Amino acid sequence: MKLSLFSESQSQEVIDLFKNVFSASENEIEGQVIAGFVEDLISTTNSQDLIGCVAFEKGIIVGCIFFSRFRVPSGQEAFILSPVAVATDVQGTGIGQKLIQYGLDYLRRLNVSLAFTYGDPSYYAKTGFEQINEGIVKAPCPLSQPIGWLAQSLEGKEIQAMAGSTRCVEALNDPSLW
Ligand SMILES: CC(C)(COP(=O)(O)OP(=O)(O)OC[C@H]1O[C@@H](n2cnc3c(N)ncnc32)[C@H](O)[C@@H]1OP(=O)(O)O)[C@@H](O)C(=O)NCCC(=O)NCCS
Repeated sequence: MKLSLFSESQSQEVIDLFKNVFSASENEIEGQVIAGFVEDLISTTNSQDLIGCVAFEKGIIVGCIFFSRFRVPSGQEAFILSPVAVATDVQGTGIGQKLIQYGLDYLRRLNVSLAFTYGDPSYYAKTGFEQINEGIVKAPCPLSQPIGWLAQSLEGKEIQAMAGSTRCVEALNDPSLW
């Protein structure tokens, strides 16, 4: 398996991956919703605000994750991880965790201080994310599942409580995704 940064020429392959993975794990409608979200994320986000990572096997993309810029009141550099997909036939073989670790290492090299995500706490704990209370950092939209609000410091420090609202990129700023 090879890991690399996402490039725009891979957009269609990545959109198809998300569509297929979520059609299989949820249903076809969800597959279309996620594919639309990924298309939006790629086409409406400034390149300096979006970092994608892809995993290849035999020249085919079998995993993809995106981090997009997340503005927090402390002014620290922050990115949010969403969405994540690993091809159905190779799930459970460590690709998701390796991709996330690769992306987090890349963010550290860019001196990004904080990473956030919204998802299953037990899965994302494997790559260092911990549950975070909205009293520490607010989510950008109302959360339907507050236990899924997760973060980690990329500097090994405790995340300090910060008052004020946060802002995600436009494609993620959709209450139905939260
Ligand atoms: C969730 C997903 C990204 C995990 O990637 P993966 O490469 O299959 O997972 P890994 O091989 O890195 O990790 C496997 C471990 O995570 C656990 N795991 C896998 N999917 C999980 C999930 N949806 N929830 C909780 N735990 C999960 C496995 O039980 C396994 O645990 P173990 O190591 O203790 O046995 C992948 O299965 C996927 O794309 N699923 C469908 C789409 C999805 O749900 N995306 C995430 C929301 S955006």
